[in-house]
Amino acid sequence: MKEEDLRSGPLLRVSRSPALRGTASVPGDKSISHRALLFGALADDTVEISGLGVGGDNVSTMAALRALGVPIVQAGTEVRVQGVGLAGLQEASSALDCGNSGTSMRLFCGLLAGRPFASTLTGDHSLSRRPMARVAAPLRLMGATVDGRQDATRPGSLLPPLTVRGGALQGIQYELPVASAQIKSALILAGLQAQGRTVISEPGLSRDHSERMLRFLGAPVSAEPERRCVVVDPTGWNGRLRAGAVSVPGDLSSAAFLLVAALIVPESDVTVEKVGLNPTRTGVLDVLQAMGADLEIKVTGQAMGEPVGSVRARWTERRLRGTTVAGELALRSIDEIPALAVAAAMATGTTDFCDLRELRVKESDRIACIARELRRAGVTVVEAADGFSVMGTGGRPLLGGRVQPDGDHRIAMAGAILGLVAVEATLVPSQDIATSFPSFAQLLQGLGAPVG
Ligand code: S3P
Repeated sequence: MKEEDLRSGPLLRVSRSPALRGTASVPGDKSISHRALLFGALADDTVEISGLGVGGDNVSTMAALRALGVPIVQAGTEVRVQGVGLAGLQEASSALDCGNSGTSMRLFCGLLAGRPFASTLTGDHSLSRRPMARVAAPLRLMGATVDGRQDATRPGSLLPPLTVRGGALQGIQYELPVASAQIKSALILAGLQAQGRTVISEPGLSRDHSERMLRFLGAPVSAEPERRCVVVDPTGWNGRLRAGAVSVPGDLSSAAFLLVAALIVPESDVTVEKVGLNPTRTGVLDVLQAMGADLEIKVTGQAMGEPVGSVRARWTERRLRGTTVAGELALRSIDEIPALAVAAAMATGTTDFCDLRELRVKESDRIACIARELRRAGVTVVEAADGFSVMGTGGRPLLGGRVQPDGDHRIAMAGAILGLVAVEATLVPSQDIATSFPSFAQLLQGLGAPVG
């Protein structure tokens, strides 16, 4: 191994793939797993979680809850959370490390805003650059104190580490400037601890896992999806959530990489089972179908108010074709844009990705990273401030090389999938992938991909 490889950690080697075939179950949904842990901690007894995602981000949430005095016993993906209720959370003796996880940091801000002690939240290099004023501003309006670092070049900015000094909160009416499930969920958690009603509205409907799970657990939360509005009214509520068993569906955001792989590698036929099919998350399937993909989607059941089912993706002679991803569709496929960019690279014609300014402040600047990685593979990309356009190659084999994920799990996985249709080997620094999908390489191998 070269010195530079030693510095960047282990490398995954991906080669041009024969047909991918078979059935896979992906790890538990990352968004739902955070919520199952956090809301489980507020329950009045034990919550048994099955199928929990145990990638780095979910592990960060688990560690932070333990530091706040919540007993958690883990056996693989089966996890028992001993709910302590809101009043049972205790001041942590050191900073809560959220690692790479924006969801952990923002949800904990909302939870801790109503607790009568101070908490410090830290993160890794990537998280330390992500904007936190968006969560601090409404929490301050409710009565919490949230301090952090300022980026000297951006007035009004707030960056981690954050210190949240919680206390008595007042309900507010708040319109989110940008649709965001993380901020909405933080305000729901703060609203549950406030005096009076909190009404949150957003310009588009972001993922609604918090609303669904909290209603399932008996919290005073009502949602009006058609008005993109959530009402939290804790008047008369005893402050605890119902204990019981919860099961986490597979992560459609992880499945997206396997499905796109099946659609671009000739003769492939892959089914992903037991995956979450919440309509606020299925934009990726709609985009792929608009590109002409052969997908078979079946809803087979429900878990905690979430539809669950299977998706089968089959390669066809007919090439994928370019499309436009914008507006509500962009919001419903926000985390799958790196995977969709790979599909667009292999399609005929241009795919325009629009209304995606938020991608600039994800785990990396995803617009810049996607453009760089596609260009490395020989694809023409035109970048804009809030999106990008991919000139599809019509299935021409791509170039290999070394992926530079900038600490972003989804850029690393998109780079690996590109490698399945490249003429030369692709090397992917693999440690970032474990943030959400530790079994990524293993599942791809199981489907027949030369990944190792
Ligand atoms: C998430 C919300 C989204 C998403 C992120 C997970 C969540 O972020 O991109 O990966 O679990 O609530 P925003 O709230 O910033 O849109």
